[in-house]
Amino acid sequence: MAPYETRAAPFILMHASDSSSGYLSDVTFPDRFHRELSPAWLNYASVLGGARPKALDRPFRYLDLGCGFAHSTIVNAAAFPHAEFHACDFNAAHIEAASQRAARLGVRNIAFHEASFEALLEQDLPRFDFIVLHGIYSWVDAGVRSVVRQLISERLADEGLVYVSYNCQPGWSAEAPLRKLMLEFAQAAPGAIESRTGGAIARMQTLGNANFRYFRDNPSVADALSALAASPVDYLAHEYLNATWDIHYSVDVIDEMARAGLAYAGSATLADNHPALLLDRQAAEAIAALPNTRLRHLAEDFAVNRRFRRDVFVRGVRTSRSQAEALQFLEDMPVGCTTRVEQIETRATIPRGVLSFQQEFIADLRSLMRQGSMRIGEIVARLGGEGRSAQEIRQNLLFLVASGVLTPFAQAGGHCATGARRAVNAAALAALAGGSGDAANAYIPSELLGNGVAVGADEAKQALQWIAGDETVPCPPRLARLGVLCGA
Ligand SMILES: C[S@@+](CC[C@H](N)C(=O)[O-])C[C@H]1O[C@@H](n2cnc3c(N)ncnc32)[C@H](O)[C@@H]1O
Repeated sequence: MAPYETRAAPFILMHASDSSSGYLSDVTFPDRFHRELSPAWLNYASVLGGARPKALDRPFRYLDLGCGFAHSTIVNAAAFPHAEFHACDFNAAHIEAASQRAARLGVRNIAFHEASFEALLEQDLPRFDFIVLHGIYSWVDAGVRSVVRQLISERLADEGLVYVSYNCQPGWSAEAPLRKLMLEFAQAAPGAIESRTGGAIARMQTLGNANFRYFRDNPSVADALSALAASPVDYLAHEYLNATWDIHYSVDVIDEMARAGLAYAGSATLADNHPALLLDRQAAEAIAALPNTRLRHLAEDFAVNRRFRRDVFVRGVRTSRSQAEALQFLEDMPVGCTTRVEQIETRATIPRGVLSFQQEFIADLRSLMRQGSMRIGEIVARLGGEGRSAQEIRQNLLFLVASGVLTPFAQAGGHCATGARRAVNAAALAALAGGSGDAANAYIPSELLGNGVAVGADEAKQALQWIAGDETVPCPPRLARLGVLCGA
């Protein structure tokens, strides 16, 4: 594939949409960044499951279906300037705001489609190496889900990856009736969607007490109701008040994707790829005793009472690989530390508790990570030695990534000290400038990370002062190590 031809500005393609199929369009969705949508992150998740890694240093194509404000996809487009990104949503306000953000950051390798998925299906689109859908699959009806699968079937490249998140059972079994209450109360109320949503929650709170047997018999629901009351109404409206709110079983989604020619490759919730981090010994043994992968997959959802999945699928049935090849793919994955290196501690939080690592191992790992990101195979080689087996080091690294202490990167590398002080590219500079005045974290594109680096206002300000040549301000070391800043 030829490198993507850049345009003067990101552009919006409008494709006539017939209907919203019951999806809300009178309130915008919250503007959120999702690190799991990065090609580097998805690549890592799929390689854990045995897929062949994608060559992220070469041109590739990426499609975000139902992009909302497309925050992550715009940052990813800036982090992979040699790739071609497309983002589709039928909400004009979302697409307008997304294209303005892309223009502000000077990101040009992205095309926005103001279109329904149905209308997109009619377009002459290329084949994509990545197709992602976050917050879509449980919230659109069966007809739209079928259109999504047709898009995937027709537009995903060979060995392409699909990310699909959805609400799953059994984790919603106690709370699902709350949604019915909310929907009915909101539908019965007058006014705009925001006030109807707020009114529905207030009304639910009048019922949420032990005089109502549902709440008494399901004690966890009271906490869920308090959490709903504390959530922003734009989020609540999109999450609960669409015509469709379907809770899936993971094996049914696997079946549906199989019909589009896809196989399950892994989870972008990285800890979910490691049963040892999720299950105690008894649960693990009971699951291991089940006769096939399908039943083990379903049983694990029950073992952890899972309610949300971020599944990664790969096109084509994976040919079974030799252990040596799968290991080679894994050892080629770059990982690094996106926080301050001192924050790599001997204890890491995992879903079923806390993991402890030897102090000496962590001290050695910190020294390496100060240099930047590295391929897993290189870290294993450099930390190996007396009393440490390669297998044990590799497993520690995978568990540290699963617990969020380390992160999948797009490339191995570190601080580039040559040339004048600068942000690595115009998008990073513009994102730092935007972030310096914002109370919330900004996400600064990094080609090294292949994702957005979360940066607070103080660090963004420090970076801008350093770039401007203020001698009293040191270079923020984390941003240099993560490939956001360059120069002496
Ligand atoms: C819950 S939001 C998720 C937005 C974004 N993916 C995120 O996670 O921040 C769902 C988005 O899908 C869009 N959408 C829903 N149905 C659609 C359809 N049939 N065609 C195109 N966009 C659709 C909505 O407008 C909305 O922006």
